[in-house]
Amino acid sequence: MTERSFEVIISTTVCCKGSNEEKSMEISRLSGVGAEITGVDIRHLSDNEYEGIKSAFTENGLIFFRDQHLTEEDHIAFAKRWGEININRFFKANDKYPEIAMVTKEEHQEQNIGGGWHTDHSYDQEPALGSILVAKELPESGGDTWFTSMYKAYDSLSDGLKETLERMRAVHSAHYAFGTKSGDKQSGGTGGRIGNADAADALENPVHPVVITHPMSGRKALYVNRAFTLHFENWSEEDSVPLLEYLYDIAIRDEFVTKFQWRPGSVAFWDNRATWHYAQNDYQGQRREMHRITLEGCALG
Ligand code: SIN
Repeated sequence: MTERSFEVIISTTVCCKGSNEEKSMEISRLSGVGAEITGVDIRHLSDNEYEGIKSAFTENGLIFFRDQHLTEEDHIAFAKRWGEININRFFKANDKYPEIAMVTKEEHQEQNIGGGWHTDHSYDQEPALGSILVAKELPESGGDTWFTSMYKAYDSLSDGLKETLERMRAVHSAHYAFGTKSGDKQSGGTGGRIGNADAADALENPVHPVVITHPMSGRKALYVNRAFTLHFENWSEEDSVPLLEYLYDIAIRDEFVTKFQWRPGSVAFWDNRATWHYAQNDYQGQRREMHRITLEGCALG
């Protein structure tokens, strides 16, 4: 995979007027999904920079930073600017900072966390806003994260299908990914998880609209995903499969996807309500350690 398997299509400069800074932050919208932001140190943001970043996040649902030097405290401080931190129930926490979930794959592990298309926390009644992922240790090659846009997936549907889906809701669940139904994936922390399957089983399955109006952007986005959506409300799982599979195929069309290649100092901040992501598991025998902070969200309508 090349360094840039995506293409910058718009580049905007956000000046730091009103502050003492001389440099200016640049926001480059990528052709698949997301925007890359350069010329900024996210440990020390001026109000103008923060507002520019917030607009980029709202508009694109995904932002990337390069060459950041974040300690765990910096990571937590940046996250707190966006809202309340969700303490992860299924992944191992950082030894010193419970706010940070460890997304680690050890040399001897075969499975990774997030190794399939999904959006996090759709199994919650109030799904998390999104996550801020910081690269700590990377394999020599591989370990990219792929992202896709659920705004673009929705926009690409025909008007008739949009209208039908807008009247529908779907049942989501953590039972199969994290609960006892997930089999031996839970035991012994395989893939970096902790074995609290009973907590997953105890969660009541939420019902969310299939098309949500995004709480920040006001745009419509498709809100089902292969990892956690069980079936449409009042439809059997069997009846739901063909339409869900059709939507899942549309969601990962090449033109909606950005393949993000991590480097030391890279940070990704994604919106769970507007994107899906997929951590590539193509670096067997090597270690990868990422630090993830997830932000609390709200009920979706
Ligand atoms: C995840 O949160 O699904 C993991 C993403 C990654 O490790 O790239």
